[in-house]
Amino acid sequence: MNVAVIGTGYVGLVTGVVLSEIGHNVICIDIDEKKVEMMKQGKSPIYEPGLEEMLVRNISKKRLSFTTKHKEAFEKSEIVFIAVGTPQSESGAADLKFIKQAAKDIAQHVVYDTVVVVKSTVPVGTNDIVENIIQEELKAPVRVEVVSNPEFLREGHAIHDTFHGDRIVIGSDVKKPGDKIEALFTPLNLPIVRTNRRSAEMIKYAANAFLAVKISYINQIANLCEKLDADVNAVAEGIGMDNRIGRAFLSAGLGYGGSCFPKDTEALAFLARENNINLNIVDAAIKANSEQHEIFIQKVIDKLGGNVEAKTFAILGLAFKPNTDDLREAPALKIIEKLLSLGANVKVYDPIVQHLDGFQPGELEHCQSIEECMDNVDATLLVTEWDEFIENDWKELKKYPNQPLLFDGRNILSIDKLVKFGWQVEGIGQAQKRQSVKVI
Ligand code: UDX
Repeated sequence: MNVAVIGTGYVGLVTGVVLSEIGHNVICIDIDEKKVEMMKQGKSPIYEPGLEEMLVRNISKKRLSFTTKHKEAFEKSEIVFIAVGTPQSESGAADLKFIKQAAKDIAQHVVYDTVVVVKSTVPVGTNDIVENIIQEELKAPVRVEVVSNPEFLREGHAIHDTFHGDRIVIGSDVKKPGDKIEALFTPLNLPIVRTNRRSAEMIKYAANAFLAVKISYINQIANLCEKLDADVNAVAEGIGMDNRIGRAFLSAGLGYGGSCFPKDTEALAFLARENNINLNIVDAAIKANSEQHEIFIQKVIDKLGGNVEAKTFAILGLAFKPNTDDLREAPALKIIEKLLSLGANVKVYDPIVQHLDGFQPGELEHCQSIEECMDNVDATLLVTEWDEFIENDWKELKKYPNQPLLFDGRNILSIDKLVKFGWQVEGIGQAQKRQSVKVI
């Protein structure tokens, strides 16, 4: 089929590339000329394992192209995906300006009967708004129908998740356009959930908020474990083996970040408030998440004798999670800001993120290797669970810092092993393994 995709962020670009990979003719549209030029040259503007190879392959097979011109894209397409951003506004609600603009562009330029697919995460009722805008502003005498198809891919695993997703949700109030989108995805051979548009929109928010609740729940249980001398990793295993609960998303850490959970939980909470529905379970998850990195920093301060002024820290990992260069709502940024505000010196290292905006020149030291980062520091904070940190030789690394004091914010290293190497390690919710840390 001939498909256009509006927006080449994580969702749009992955959707476009994967649809071309399964045999469709895809044209991706973005207003950013530089970005479009880059993609035409076979370069992915985002770091996502496997994406660039697939992009290059499909450009060379002439199934994938890029443009800044709506007309060029829509005059060939029978299906148009909207995959633009829905940033958080002041109130917490999702800002729909890019969605509305996309609907207007479609209305201006389509020349065939078209199914418009809303892939962006949007508040319940947004597909209706898109349909109304298109109907009001449609230029050509054609039929345009709107289908909701929320995206569930995780950054860093986007290609894998698209081919091996748990389900594809198709929300359509009319059968035929829903059937067309189901046919589009047939080569992926994944379970399909067919429902109406509003339910599809709600599935996305309800799924993300549920996972956020799960993370905040295990983080708070971890904090309690730490006080009571229990081990949250064992607790997560023990409760996760109950099929009704499941082990996924029960890894305690520094709280969730990224482009989805923080924004989507706020948007869902806003939707509930607006409709006078009590959804305080989500409010509590949001609050717990905002507290989690503060609890971690307090632990660091306490271990260093209550004052971190002029102390030097190594921050290992900047991205909000491994295998991405995404810094949105990354706990590392909040931790760095707090340490700097307390007068500490901060050295940072990330295997992929090589540049940090928002800090004054010289305010922190951006290192090129883990060794350089840990050289002469008073404490090391592991913030993102990159493989490079997990697989490193921690026996060897011990020679770099002033003192072998390590805070594992992701519970990813083997404390037993590190202790044998002479490290003093603090995890999250692992109080019984607490070492007595000497304060310098
Ligand atoms: C998420 C959803 O998983 C995906 O379905 C949706 O489409 C978009 O949002 P993403 O934000 O890419 O994807 O990352 P994910 O791997 O889900 O992690 C989200 C955050 O939760 C990260 O900050 C991660 O560190 C944190 N997390 C995840 C935990 O703290 N503990 C866990 O057990 C799992």
